[in-house]
Amino acid sequence: MSALADRPEGPVVGKPAPHESAALHVTGAAMYTDDLAAHTAGVLTAWPVQSTNAHAKVTIDVSGAYEVPGVVRVLTAADVPGVNDAGIKHDEPLFPDEAMFYGHALVWVLGETQEAARLGAAAVKVEYEPLPSLITIQDAVDAGSFQGTARTVERGDAASALASSAHVFEGETEFGGQEHFYLETQASFATIDSEGQYFVQCSTQHPSETQEIIAHVLDLSSNQVTVQSLRMGGGFGGKEMQSHGFAAIAALGAKLTGRPVRLRLNRTQDITMTGKRHPFHISWKVGFDSDGLLQGLDAVLTCDGGWSLDLSEPVLGRALCHLDNAYWIPNVHALGRIVKTHKASNTAFRGFGGPQGVFLIEDILGRVAPALGIDALALREKNFYQPGQSTPYGQLVKDADRLGTIWNQLHDEADVDERRAEIARFNAGSPHAKRALAMTPIKFGISFNFAAFNQAGALVHVYKDGSVLINHGGTEMGQGLHTKMLQVAATALGLEMHQVRLAPTRTDKVPNTSATAASSGADLNGGAVKNACEQIRERMAAVAGRLLNVDERDVRFSGGLITGLGNTSQTLTFAEVAEAAYLQRVQLFAAGYYRTEGLHWNPEIMQGSPFKYFAYGSAATEVEVDEFTGAYTVRRVDIVHDVGDSLSPMLDIGQVEGAYVQGVGWLTLEELRWDTSDGPNRGRLQTQSASTYKLPSFSEMPSEFNVRLFENAREDGAVYGSKAVGEPPFMLAFSAREAIREAVGAFGPQGHMVELGSPATPEAVFWAVRAVQQAAAEAAPARAGAHELAAVR
Ligand code: MTE
Ligand code: MOS
Repeated sequence: MSALADRPEGPVVGKPAPHESAALHVTGAAMYTDDLAAHTAGVLTAWPVQSTNAHAKVTIDVSGAYEVPGVVRVLTAADVPGVNDAGIKHDEPLFPDEAMFYGHALVWVLGETQEAARLGAAAVKVEYEPLPSLITIQDAVDAGSFQGTARTVERGDAASALASSAHVFEGETEFGGQEHFYLETQASFATIDSEGQYFVQCSTQHPSETQEIIAHVLDLSSNQVTVQSLRMGGGFGGKEMQSHGFAAIAALGAKLTGRPVRLRLNRTQDITMTGKRHPFHISWKVGFDSDGLLQGLDAVLTCDGGWSLDLSEPVLGRALCHLDNAYWIPNVHALGRIVKTHKASNTAFRGFGGPQGVFLIEDILGRVAPALGIDALALREKNFYQPGQSTPYGQLVKDADRLGTIWNQLHDEADVDERRAEIARFNAGSPHAKRALAMTPIKFGISFNFAAFNQAGALVHVYKDGSVLINHGGTEMGQGLHTKMLQVAATALGLEMHQVRLAPTRTDKVPNTSATAASSGADLNGGAVKNACEQIRERMAAVAGRLLNVDERDVRFSGGLITGLGNTSQTLTFAEVAEAAYLQRVQLFAAGYYRTEGLHWNPEIMQGSPFKYFAYGSAATEVEVDEFTGAYTVRRVDIVHDVGDSLSPMLDIGQVEGAYVQGVGWLTLEELRWDTSDGPNRGRLQTQSASTYKLPSFSEMPSEFNVRLFENAREDGAVYGSKAVGEPPFMLAFSAREAIREAVGAFGPQGHMVELGSPATPEAVFWAVRAVQQAAAEAAPARAGAHELAAVR
């Protein structure tokens, strides 16, 4: 078997391939979970009764629902044969007797039509006995409301490093969450076949866990439940865990009625019921030496887990493992903790805590650079990891020199020096609009911190006619995983891509799968698909060797043809050899398996080497900020990003672009607001549709967007030398936030520290400009630096 990273000649991987479903996507022919339900007769629709109280004991009278024509059944806690819980932490009652957040689903009504179910839900009477509620992180900290285990990452002695640093700053950093806003909302569709087997189609990133939750709610064993995830209209982490409960509701409905049950949230239900990216509050103290080199960092990170734990602990863990981003910080003490509030349970979202950790150090560097008298771009660069250095959690930063190499390449290709000079000229002549160009790097660790998740399986069939069908444990959410898997299989079997087909992801084909998450879908499943294909190829090589009269090691598979070294007269097709193998009773199918070697992690002390490798990248973003409105435009973005040797460059560039823009959305546009008053709507999410929650759209796209993949970047430990791409470029969006900060700073005196609210909406930018102008009015420029230092000490 060939080494994991080696590519044969003329591989299908590395070629720009369109998404395997692109034509279906754009013609509207691609089926999603709820479309499948629409094509089934006799389907019942489930509709929730949602709490209108942030925290209350509830008494529920469902009798009214049964008077509504078309209502078939109301599902309540009494109907649950197994465990009344939707999560793996057993802190998420599926049918609660205490409403834990505004919007919490209390019971579900099944109707012949959606309208009947909706009216039935409206006829359910809920009595609330209100209890005190905690809405903000501060509310929860004040009340001592924490959940899960607090963790600390520690290296060296941060306290003494800070005591002996030439420059010390302290501050607070706070930022909001983010709604996933996948185009397809949460959806499940459950049926039971003639043999009693549950078949649940679900828009889930984690079919195996969805299967487990359904089984424990219904008191079944896993082999009685099959979950299929055909494709998702986006997941972004929001369907890693939050889909399970909905699937269990649909399955329970199918059990009780004997009929197919569909459940698809509408947009407002989805936004109000499901968790989001975790918002954080961070207090910090940082020290630099007289050259601007980081000496120590002491931080307390507090994240809002919402009403239940969900994935908050691993998200926090990843935040703690990314607060160094690309920078060597010799002494670190960082405590992370999770508060429990009366809001939907926050969950995975692209980057999985990584962006929140990176936020801290990028915010610090952007804020203090003026006070240090060092250009922010230079301050970042001089603090980069150097080869041989390790992260605060003890992992060697492999290929650390790529940070500088990529940075310099980007600096040159984006003409950063010339453009900054041009921007300075523009700003000098433009009192009411200022521009800035900022660069930020990213280093992102790839693998699940939890070692057991770093395994995957695949099932590959070669039929007698030489056609190939592959199954793997990963799910497709638009990221192009299935396309990459087709390319991997075609490469490993020496076929053209069209000779391989892919079957839907199902738990009865590949068991015990991990979530398609942590960007590792292609690494893990690609390893498994390649392994299965190579087993078959080896067996076929033996058959072909005999037919071609060459040693089996000299058999070559390429372009659908099979040849032997030294035999120039004979060429066999893949189909001919498949047929011959069948007749010779040679097995033409295989189960593939892959696990990532070399990982170790101790979550108690937060030390080890949890990542197989790091993905690197840099972005340069230029913005223009308007003084009067705080509105800004992104004028130009340049990115150089490291995906190893790309499996599929067109998809990878799409991932980089999409991730960057989603990051800009989080950092500059998307603002979640809850009612924090003591009125009757306390805890209600006020931004619960596209009209009040601003997403990036065409008008926010950068006018010029240049994405380049770092070349000759083979990653030795990964499938065909590639690296994961899904999440890391999300964090390149910090360059946009930092550019806005610098443009705001240009309205004021030099050396002034700029604090920028997050998200940096036009409103927040407007107030930041005002603050800078205020400072200009109050302090003579000569005094500004000293004034700032004193203020932050
Ligand atoms: N791209 C699209 N189009 N849709 C998505 O939902 N999810 C992101 C990323 N890219 C997502 C996406 C997230 S959160 C992850 S973890 C990865 O894709 C998961 O897929 P992968 O492991 O195959 O990269
Ligand atoms: Mo992605 S947040 O790991 O699903």
